[in-house]
Amino acid sequence: MERVLVTGGAGFVGANFVHHLVGRTTADVTVLDKLTYAASEASLAGLPPDRVRLVVGDVADQTAVDPLVASHDAVVHFAAESHNDNSLTDPGPFVHTNLIGTFTLLEAVRKHDKRLHHVSTDEVYGDLELDDPKRFTEDTPYNPSSPYSASKAGSDHLVRAWVRSFGVRATVSNCSNNYGPWQHVEKFIPRQITNVIDGIRPKLYGSGENVRDWIHADDHSSAVLAILERGRVGETYLIGADGEKNNLEVVRLILKLMGRPEDDFDHVNDRVGHDLRYAIESGKLRQELGWQPQFRDFESGLADTIRWYREHEDWWRPHKDRTEAAYALKGQ
Ligand code: NAD
Ligand code: DAU
Repeated sequence: MERVLVTGGAGFVGANFVHHLVGRTTADVTVLDKLTYAASEASLAGLPPDRVRLVVGDVADQTAVDPLVASHDAVVHFAAESHNDNSLTDPGPFVHTNLIGTFTLLEAVRKHDKRLHHVSTDEVYGDLELDDPKRFTEDTPYNPSSPYSASKAGSDHLVRAWVRSFGVRATVSNCSNNYGPWQHVEKFIPRQITNVIDGIRPKLYGSGENVRDWIHADDHSSAVLAILERGRVGETYLIGADGEKNNLEVVRLILKLMGRPEDDFDHVNDRVGHDLRYAIESGKLRQELGWQPQFRDFESGLADTIRWYREHEDWWRPHKDRTEAAYALKGQ
């Protein structure tokens, strides 16, 4: 796979993947990204210009997508509207990008017979009870809660239908919550880190008992690369690193690592329909493809992430005030 098209490569997980791909393979990479509010060209700074180029465009625009797909060997599809809270205030862009965008890409890979990897989320499975011993597997029934997760669920169904109906060479992965560099300050961990830097108390939705299964974005990237290179066409792989933590624990850890008292946070309005718990069983990926996460210690991964935000204020500062103003309007 010498020429790889990465949609959404100027966003958080996509940018981490482009850095990973360039560092570990000889592939030339084209990033197709609409550069929405969530994107940052600066996330791609420092990559070799002879191997990475950015094309600004909409994944739902067939005239932009078709020639790009035709001129690449494989497509890795990250482009999405990704934030649950935004999907609750304005779901339209989620339907456009996550459904029409994926449909547009599928038609292009079908026409040009190209390999596709579709990046999706564990949220398609809905949520688990806190005391449920079960975790999500590839066989868990779909039961999405928010407009975001419903649009991702729909996109997964489209990919599987294109595999079965048209023989498209696609794989799907569903990953749990990522943390690491280049994540927008609207998301939980960077929001709290940058709040502490700014002298604002971290904001915990509701009681803080909600559990997320944290994985470093570089581990997500290595899993996607393994699936792209060695995954079986038509298969789905769950990606997770056994990182279950409730939100209260995460806020307290951020405060401790940043030298603040562990109770120095506010409870704010809860998210409507807030999923209680996500948890991933990633045995299929590990056994079939030999994948292992490298970031096994959440506290040290979080400390690295805090250091990154301290050292890259120029990267996140332009987004901070507008993000906090929007949260303030919702009492969050
Ligand atoms: P993000 O919001 O940080 O980045 C999304 C990127 O897609 C941005 O660069 C944006 O400009 C681009 N984009 C949006 N609409 C587009 C369009 N119409 N055409 C082209 N580009 C467009 O999101 P993220 O957190 O990096 O998530 C990337 C993918 O990974 C998504 O598909 C998401 O569902 C999936 N995922 C994310 C996580 C996570 O924890 N962040 C976990 C599992 C799966
Ligand atoms: O599980 C994978 C998903 O993880 C991805 O598909 C999504 O794209 C990604 O955004 C993420 O979704 P979440 O909704 O879990 O992530 P978020 O960072 O928005 O919130 C994480 C948890 O923290 C969630 O329980 C809500 C809570 N929260 C969030 C914010 C922004 C707070 O308590 N306070 C906050 O300020």
